[in-house]
Amino acid sequence: MNKLIAIFVVLIFGVVLLSPFVVNAIRGGMSKGVSKLDIVLPSSGKCIKDKEYMRANHMDLLKKERVKAVRDGVRTNDYSLKNCQTCHQKRDEFCDRCHHFVGVKPECFECHYYPTGKKECKGRE
Ligand code: HEC
Ligand code: HEC
Ligand code: HEC
Repeated sequence: MNKLIAIFVVLIFGVVLLSPFVVNAIRGGMSKGVSKLDIVLPSSGKCIKDKEYMRANHMDLLKKERVKAVRDGVRTNDYSLKNCQTCHQKRDEFCDRCHHFVGVKPECFECHYYPTGKKECKGRE
């Protein structure tokens, strides 16, 4: 009888000790089907604003810059598409990858040249 209890105790301990591995294995299996955002970030330096701000507001910065240039004739470089390119050099590895992930397709690059890593015709700069 004591032997049975001992075996039972060992079994329970075994399950408790192994459970983190089991949970991880299940999680790993589940996350395999889900695509992950896989953007290439510059290896050094800092963005023009902090990352969370940029993630949420980069489109507004760009659009404000456009209005300033096109409507008011005021040109600054901080928020221009050209400036983004100095650090985020390949559009397909950064802008496009995230836009594709979230399902937006900005219609800027038909006019503004922003190189991708792929071969393409050169448009307006
Ligand atoms: C001086 C270099 C530099 C310039 C110029 C720059 N960035 Fe960045 N950007 C970075 C770095 C480095 C990061 C990684 C986060 C960090 O450490 O700030 C980043 C992060 C970001 C992110 C967030 C990515 C994420 O992980 O969610 C967005 C969006 C972004 N940049 C957009 C832009 C846009 C749009 C422009 C042009 C208006 C621009 N950046 C200009 C260097 C730059
Ligand atoms: C981490 C994700 C992410 C990255 C990286 C990113 N964007 Fe975006 N971008 C978004 C999201 C999300 C939206 C849509 C926001 C909305 O619909 O309100 C967006 C929208 C935009 C828009 C507005 C589109 C429209 O028609 O209204 C522009 C312009 C834009 N992004 C430019 C850029 C440029 C240029 C880069 C690269 C330098 C870049 N983005 C990188 C997530 C990203
Ligand atoms: C039909 C063509 C066209 C489209 C589409 C377009 N632009 Fe432009 N954009 C222009 C022209 C032309 C100028 C004026 C360029 C100049 O005189 O330097 C300009 C100027 C700008 C400027 C100010 C100049 C600079 O380089 O800083 C910004 C910023 C800008 N556009 C952002 C955008 C963004 C963001 C989008 C997409 C949401 C976009 N544009 C879509 C044609 C276009």
